[in-house]
Amino acid sequence: MTIRDIAAIAGVSPATVSKVINNKADSITEETREKVLRIVKEYNFKPFRKYIQNDSTFGGFVGLLLPGGTKEYSDFISGAQAAASAEGYSMILCTCQSEADRDKHLSSLFSRGADGIALYLDREADLEEMLADAPEKLVYTVASNRQSLAGHCMAYCDYAAAAKLAAEHLIKFGHREIALIGWRSHFLREDLLAGYNEALYDNEIIKQPNALCLCESLEEASAFVRQFTYGSGTAFLCQDARLAACVYRTLSRYGLQVPRDYSVIGLSVHSAPLDVFEPELTMVDVRFRDLGCSAMEALIARIEGGAKAPDQSRQLSPRLWQGGSVAPPLHSAGKRIVVVGSMNMDVIIHMTHIPTSGENLQAQRLLNLPGGKGANQGVGAAKLGGNVHAIGCLGSDQEGRLLYNSLVENGVSTAGVRIIHEKPTGKAYILVAENGESTIVRAHGANDELQPNVVKDNSAYFEGARFCLISTEIPWETAVYTIDFCAEKGIQTIVKPTTQRAIPPEILKKITFLVPNEKELEVQVKGAQSIEEKADILYAAGTRNVIITLGEKGCYLRNGELRRYFPAAGFQAVDTTGAGDAFISALAVYLSEDHDILSSIQFASYAAGLSITRDGVQPALADRMALELYSDKFNAHPSG
Ligand code: RIB
Repeated sequence: MTIRDIAAIAGVSPATVSKVINNKADSITEETREKVLRIVKEYNFKPFRKYIQNDSTFGGFVGLLLPGGTKEYSDFISGAQAAASAEGYSMILCTCQSEADRDKHLSSLFSRGADGIALYLDREADLEEMLADAPEKLVYTVASNRQSLAGHCMAYCDYAAAAKLAAEHLIKFGHREIALIGWRSHFLREDLLAGYNEALYDNEIIKQPNALCLCESLEEASAFVRQFTYGSGTAFLCQDARLAACVYRTLSRYGLQVPRDYSVIGLSVHSAPLDVFEPELTMVDVRFRDLGCSAMEALIARIEGGAKAPDQSRQLSPRLWQGGSVAPPLHSAGKRIVVVGSMNMDVIIHMTHIPTSGENLQAQRLLNLPGGKGANQGVGAAKLGGNVHAIGCLGSDQEGRLLYNSLVENGVSTAGVRIIHEKPTGKAYILVAENGESTIVRAHGANDELQPNVVKDNSAYFEGARFCLISTEIPWETAVYTIDFCAEKGIQTIVKPTTQRAIPPEILKKITFLVPNEKELEVQVKGAQSIEEKADILYAAGTRNVIITLGEKGCYLRNGELRRYFPAAGFQAVDTTGAGDAFISALAVYLSEDHDILSSIQFASYAAGLSITRDGVQPALADRMALELYSDKFNAHPSG
């Protein structure tokens, strides 16, 4: 491209083009001058160097001065770079580690005849002093995330406002205990804190001292997340995408889900690979790239507009982008189900019949599958869509890992599961006869460490919970402590007794649902009375609902309004182990969805029925889809 080409396109003589680019256009109309300049720029025409003579209009260059390394400013830089090249300017990037560094870069830009400089300021700065040696005609703009430089041509996006917007979004959803996670040495740390504090203050929320994490590493952030889950907090506000991803990862390690268990919001993550977030991250975009772009556009507009140019300052508002990571806090939905119970590795031995004393039998099949009443009930409820937090103890062995994975894979929160290094994971040796009936011998192992203090340490999970499922294969004091605790908190309990011990009357009266099978009922109420009479006795003792599970005969309910039998679902039994756990977990889920007791018992009967059609307990528990196939049956109320 030559001057002649430009002249031909503009429809003027080469001399006119030459005059315009040589700044000698006094005799040329303003309209022609602008036309020539437009074409010069459009075709990115670079006139021979001797014509330029420091005139900024043609392929000039601008400086971008940053206070820190390129990594944290990468978005800003790419915005500025894009704007500069769109306008035909080269951009020289200067990063400053110190004031001396900055002064050196500035004087180099001055002496090389930069047309303008965009300065990013991250703190108060004396611009007069900084630019004291600048050539008279130097043009500059200031970009910042703080509005501290009124009076200068600024591009500005309020980082504190962005943090506030993020916190307020969470508050709008009902969150009140919001963790803030940021980087300790980040230049916008103070703004982040200011915005967060302001949102809490405006909404009359008392700041929690343990809700703040200013970290140096992702390990530190992850440890904080774990700690925060022990409390009653419900949401995380993260300074950037890396921290948000760390929150996601840590929560999922403990079977906690976003946004079901915790809401997460991130700042400034527009350049992050958002597809790593499942569900997509809700974020407040502080528009760092736009900020770089605006600063550079404003600079060039001023360079080209000269002294007459109107003020080019631009203010960008942070933008909220709604992904799927924010939802109302769980306790406000009142659907959480806490499970306190045993966790065992089940060693299942299939045989023709259960041996009697002195008999010597050969096993037909041997299986090792995750079990234990607490773990079974947790998995059962989670598979049906319940929001489950399990509290229990596992050994730090292979069996423990297998059980832990089964909980996590099925969507149970394991934040309340303690790993005991000194004891093995509990085991249950289960003999299963050909007709599906079973007999169990247990070795408690780590389950013995499920002491009241473990439940106490996890008391935050009971906050707003609707049900607590308690199986009494755990230390007795813990079962009693949990029943007492739930009674005080108004949380409904569903208790599975064992054949080893009768529950005393002072505890019976605190139980909302007692669900024994026939054998457990015999231990609970000794004597020759009928099932109905025994249920009456338990009801009279104060248990509000007594449901006796009767295997293939179904179950019997006794409460204040009803004395009623329910039929079994009628499936062919392969292994009846854990049918009671399937029943209890389904009962809790359906009741917590506000179904009535009749439908809930029928729903539970189908869940129990399906669970006996396969080997083992946890793998045999039905998921919601399988169970819904029978919805017309469990929604039809039995007569009588
Ligand atoms: O209810 C069935 C469970 O009881 C088995 O999984 C076994 O571990 C025992 O605890």
